Amino acid sequence: MTQLKVAVIGCGSIAKHRHIPEYLAHPEIELVAVCDINETRAKEMAQEHGIPTYYTDYQDLLQDLEVEAVSVCTPNYLHAPMSIDALKAGKHVLCEKPMATSKEEAEAMVQAAKESGKKLMIAHNQRFVPSHQKARQLIASGELGKIYSFRSAFGHGGPEGWSVDGRESWFFKKEEAFIGAMGDLGVHKTDLLRFILGEEFVEVGAFVETNAKEGATVDDTAVCVLKTESGIIGTLAASWSYVSKEDNSTIIYAENAIVRLEDDPVSSVIVQYKTGEVVKYELGGIQTNDAGGQSSSGVVHHFADAIINDKDPVISGEEGMKSLQVVLSALASSDTKQITKI
Ligand SMILES: NC(=O)c1ccc[n+]([C@@H]2O[C@H](COP(=O)([O-])OP(=O)(O)OC[C@H]3O[C@@H](n4cnc5c(N)ncnc54)[C@H](O)[C@@H]3O)[C@@H](O)[C@H]2O)c1
Repeated sequence: MTQLKVAVIGCGSIAKHRHIPEYLAHPEIELVAVCDINETRAKEMAQEHGIPTYYTDYQDLLQDLEVEAVSVCTPNYLHAPMSIDALKAGKHVLCEKPMATSKEEAEAMVQAAKESGKKLMIAHNQRFVPSHQKARQLIASGELGKIYSFRSAFGHGGPEGWSVDGRESWFFKKEEAFIGAMGDLGVHKTDLLRFILGEEFVEVGAFVETNAKEGATVDDTAVCVLKTESGIIGTLAASWSYVSKEDNSTIIYAENAIVRLEDDPVSSVIVQYKTGEVVKYELGGIQTNDAGGQSSSGVVHHFADAIINDKDPVISGEEGMKSLQVVLSALASSDTKQITKI
C-alpha cells in the first residue's frame, strides 16, 4: 500500500485535534515530522505520537527530502509564505483557513501550485459535514425549487478557549491574524454557502466590529448581507461573542421548503415542506470545539486521496481564494460604509 510521507507545521490546537490524529489514523499515510517554533511543543508532540523527527524552523523541514506533503497549521500571516515555500520545495500543501491575508498572497499561492505541479488544498472542513452535503444535493436536484434567501451563523465564545496560547494567542493580534472572527469563522461560511448554493456572491454589505474582546486589535463580531449572481440574498454572522453556546447553523428559504442545517441537536437536517410535511435527517452532528474534538473532519482523507490518486482537490487554491475574496470585500464594505461588489 502507498505510504505518503507527511509533516505538520505548527503544533497548536488544530494540529493536535485534527491534522495529526487524522494523519495517524490514515492507513496510507506516515507522519514523519512535525515543526513548531516552540521547541518544547514540537518535541512533546513528536514524542507523544512516536513521530520520528521534529523541527523548530520550517525551512529545515522543507529540506527534508523524505517529506512529500505538509499541513500548514500556523497563524494566518504565515499561511502564504509557508505554503509557497513548501510548494517550491516540491511538497503538496494542505493549508488552514483563511488561506491568506490578501488577494495578492492568495494569487501567489495558486501560481506556486501551478508552477510546482503539486496539490494545494485549503482546509475548509465545513464542506465535508454530512448535513451540508445533503443540503447541496437537495438544492442541486431542484427538489427545493427556487432558492430565495438564507441565514448562516458561526459564533462561539472566542479562541481563548481553543488556541494553545489561550488569551495571549496570536488570534487577537492584527499583525499575526490580520482579521478576527470574520476571517476565523466567517470564511468557513462564505465557503460553505458558495458550496451549498452552487453560486458565486456578487455583492456584500457588512459591519465588522470589535465589541467583545478587550485589547483585541482584530474584529470579534461581524454581520454581513450578501447577494449571489442569481439574486439569492441572505445574512452571515461571524462572532466570538456568543458566550454560552456555539451557533453553527444555516437556514435556506426556498420555493418548496425551509431547510434547517445544524439547527437542532438531534436532526442535523430538517426540511419543512410547504405542504406541511417535515423530514428530519440524523446524519451526525458537525464537529465542534464545544463537543471536544475535531478528529474525523474528512479534510485529511480528501487531501490524501487527491495526492495518491492524482486528482484535483475539491477545495483548491482557486476555491479558497474565492471564499477569501468575499471576506476581503466584506472588510472593504465595513471600512467604506458602502455595499461592495465582489
Ligand atoms: N479549519 C478549522 O476548523 C480550524 C479550526 C481552528 C483553527 N484553524 C486554523 O488553523 C491555524 C492554526 O490555528 P490553531 O488554532 O492551531 O492555533 P494555535 O494558537 O493553537 O497554534 C498555533 C501554533 O503555531 C505555532 N507557530 C507560530 N509561529 C510558527 C512558526 N514560525 N513556525 C512553526 N510554528 C509556528 C505556535 O507556536 C502554535 O503552537 C489558523 O490559521 C486557524 O485559523 C482552523
